[in-house]
Amino acid sequence: MSSIWIVGSLNVDLVMKVDRFPEAGESLIGESFETFLGGKGGNQAVALARLEAAPRMVGRVGADQFGTRYLEALRRENVDTRGVRQVEGFTTGTAFIEVESTGQNRIVVVPGANGALDRESALADLEAVRAGDLVLMQLEIPFETIWAVIAFVHERGATVIMDPAPAARIPEEVMSRIGWITPNEHEASIAAGREPGGQEGPGGEDGLGGAARLLLEKGCAGAIVKAGSRGAFLATRDDPEPRHIPGFTVDAVDTTAAGDAFNGGLAWALSRGQAPDEAVRTANAVAALSVTGMGAQTAMPRRSDLEHFLAKGRYDRS
Ligand code: RIB
Repeated sequence: MSSIWIVGSLNVDLVMKVDRFPEAGESLIGESFETFLGGKGGNQAVALARLEAAPRMVGRVGADQFGTRYLEALRRENVDTRGVRQVEGFTTGTAFIEVESTGQNRIVVVPGANGALDRESALADLEAVRAGDLVLMQLEIPFETIWAVIAFVHERGATVIMDPAPAARIPEEVMSRIGWITPNEHEASIAAGREPGGQEGPGGEDGLGGAARLLLEKGCAGAIVKAGSRGAFLATRDDPEPRHIPGFTVDAVDTTAAGDAFNGGLAWALSRGQAPDEAVRTANAVAALSVTGMGAQTAMPRRSDLEHFLAKGRYDRS
C-alpha cells in the first residue's frame, strides 16, 4: 500500500485576534491571544491524519517543552512521527499570527529547528519512500533540503505535491520533478519566476487559469492555483486547458492554514483514486471546513465532517 509523507515545518503559532491590522508605526489593543500548534508541514500532516490517511511526518522541533508537546500532539493525532526529531541548541519554530475580524491573517515565521532539517538527515528519514507514494512539501525548511528531497523522491517514482509557500522562485530543473504545484495567485507568479502583479502576472480569473498554464509550461505535471473562497484553477499535462473548480461558501472565522487543509485534502483524494477535478473539489471542501474554526490544526475537519459536508452541503462545527 502506498504512503503519504509530509516533509516540512513544525511551528508553535502565537495567535492574536485583532479588529483590524495595525498600520506601520501604529499600536493597537488586541482582542485575544492563544497558542496553537502549526507550521505548514505539521498542519498538512494533521489534516491528513484527521482524514484517516495515516501520514508519515519528517520534520524537526527544538529540544524544548514546545518540541516535546508537539511530538506528543502529533502522536495523539495518529501521525507517524518516526521522522520527527528534537534537535539540541534550537528552539521550536515559531509563527506570529494576527487574525483580523474578517478571518484574514498575517504571519511572520521564525524557523528555529525547522532550519536544522538538513539534506542528509531528511533523506535518511525518507529511506522507506517507494514508487506510488505521495510526498507533500512546502517552503519553510532550508531550500537545499527541499531541492534534494524532490530529486530523491522523484527518482524513487513517488509524486511530489508542492505548496510553494512562503512564496519563492522554484528552479526550472526542480519544477520538472514536481507532480502537483498548489500556489495561491501571489505565489504562482513568484514560483514561475515572474513579478507578482506585473504585466505578465496572473490577476483576474483568466489570469489565474493562465498562471496554472504557465506553471505547467515550467515543467510540473499538474498545477492548481488556489483562489480562497472562489475555489481553485486546475490545469494538467494531460488536460492543459485551465478550468475553474468552484469553492464552498462558509462563515470564515480564521483562514490560517486553509492552504494546508487544501493540500491535505488533495493528497487524500488523489490517494483514493479521485480524478484531478474531483480531487480539487474535495480539497476545496477540506479548506472551507478548516476556516470555520480558530487555529491551524485545531480547525482541521475529520473525515466524517467532510463526508457529511459533501453530502449535505453544510457543516455545523460543534
Ligand atoms: O499555513 C499556516 C501556517 O503558516 C501557520 O500554522 C504558521 O505556523 C505558518 O507556518
